[in-house]
Amino acid sequence: MIIMLLGAPGAGKGTQAVKLASILEIPHISTGDIFRSNIKEGTELGKLAASYINNGKLVPDEVTFSIVEDRLKKPDCANGAILDGFPRTIPQAEMLDRFLASEGKKLDIVVNIVIDEDEIVERLSQRRYCPECKATYHLGHRPPKNGVNCDVCGTEVILRDDDQPDVIQKRFKEYHESTEPLIEYYKAKGNLIESQGVNGIEQSLNNTIRALINRKI
Ligand code: AP5
Repeated sequence: MIIMLLGAPGAGKGTQAVKLASILEIPHISTGDIFRSNIKEGTELGKLAASYINNGKLVPDEVTFSIVEDRLKKPDCANGAILDGFPRTIPQAEMLDRFLASEGKKLDIVVNIVIDEDEIVERLSQRRYCPECKATYHLGHRPPKNGVNCDVCGTEVILRDDDQPDVIQKRFKEYHESTEPLIEYYKAKGNLIESQGVNGIEQSLNNTIRALINRKI
């Protein structure tokens, strides 16, 4: 089962993807996490990705697709995967469709996480991120236990470079221009379901699980 989580920056894709991957016992593939790991390690891919991400822009389609393609070919994806933040443009969606068809697979379900933009801005300014193990926190709803260090690995949590207010606005613009058209794309394919990403993390996750069950996964 290949499930994709779609939604605006900060909608809660990463938070829900971690839990769904654990429940369904399939890998969580986050293009954002892959880029951030490469930025931290100073790889060529990281340098390229940083020049886009820190300006609120999308990394070029071919670069992003080839990373996901390689990842999906790994044996642990044999039973499926949770795609978090990919595809994010119509060309990426088309490349993914062609690749999956060539493997005799398909993107089974796209979950569009719906939420108000005002709430998202608050979430992103309060988000903290572990640069080591990638765990995500929210200083209000889900703070690290001691307020500073990651509960999982003890590393000091940080504000992402792209969570600065001016970059958040650019990311929204990019989302509306490049990613939102995917809602109609997947509606037309008949594999889009919606989940309200509101009322706290547990409630949002429950909304998604209920939507998936109603869809009879
Ligand atoms: P990426 O990391 O994917 O960023 P994004 O899509 O902007 O999404 P976020 O990670 O900001 O948010 P999220 O929806 O995962 O929310 P989260 O769960 O963290 O990508 C970063 C960049 O990489 C992109 O801007 C782009 O440049 C590049 N990139 C990535 N993929 C690409 C692609 N396919 N093509 C080209 N470029 C690509 O939650 C946010 C906060 O809210 C957290 O603090 C969380 O604790 C809290 N929270 C979550 N749910 C709730 C809830 N229900 N109630 C209250 N708080 C909540």
